Amino acid sequence: MAESTYAAVLATGARAPLANAVAFFGMLVTGVALYLPGLAGAFGSRGAVKTVHLAIAAAWICVLLVVVATSDRAALLRTAREIERLGPDDVRWLTGRGGPQGRFNAGQKAHAIAQAAFAVLFTTSGLLLWFGERDTSLRLPGTIVLHDGLTVLASVLVAAHLFLALVWPTTRPALRGMLRGTVRREWASEHHATWVPLSQPTRDAPPSAWVSPGTWALLALAAAVAAIAAVELT
Ligand code: HEM
Repeated sequence: MAESTYAAVLATGARAPLANAVAFFGMLVTGVALYLPGLAGAFGSRGAVKTVHLAIAAAWICVLLVVVATSDRAALLRTAREIERLGPDDVRWLTGRGGPQGRFNAGQKAHAIAQAAFAVLFTTSGLLLWFGERDTSLRLPGTIVLHDGLTVLASVLVAAHLFLALVWPTTRPALRGMLRGTVRREWASEHHATWVPLSQPTRDAPPSAWVSPGTWALLALAAAVAAIAAVELT
């Protein structure tokens, strides 16, 4: 019997998640080696590890820009809007009281928003570290704490994400959505009851949503810059 599936889960297909995953683990391994000088020696020299860390960071940013440039941008924008909007049903879902979910459940939305904020903060703090070596006025004492703190937070989040995607039986079927772009209809109707079926035209997220925080990433950035400035001024 042919599989009954729901529409594409991600506008970028598997390209963006794969680029993110490969780059994240590359930067994590090289970053940890930079943090632990003994480990950097095992990879050659600290200088070599740092070059690889920065090369992966540059490649990561370029690949994400290419993915955005070559994707269906209208679909990408719809996806971003859908992720940004959190409503009463999402709060109910997050607090374990049910609440019907759309294409992304509230946990997936929160995770995506956090990772977007982390991407902005990693890039900002990484660039400050890099420019700080060339211009001492950009050498802010809080930057390395922020970069290290983000590494810990992002690693915890990614570990939980991998556990849910690869191990936990009730959430594991969602992995297929990331890799193949579709999920089984029965799975979708059970876990994503308000999602639009493939046969109907895609519509924007419901207008009842409360917040539209692409702003979240910017707020996190502003908070981090304020924190760095505060550390700098004390
Ligand atoms: C655009 C993204 C990034 C840029 C531009 C960047 C840049 C840098 C730079 C310039 C350093 C300082 C190297 C030195 O000590 O001389 C550094 C260190 C480090 N990075 Fe990144 N990085 C980025 C993303 C990441 C990510 C995604 C992770 C983790 C998953 C990470 C983890 C680390 C760690 C753990 C260190 C060592 C910090 C320490 O010595 O305490 N970085 N990075």
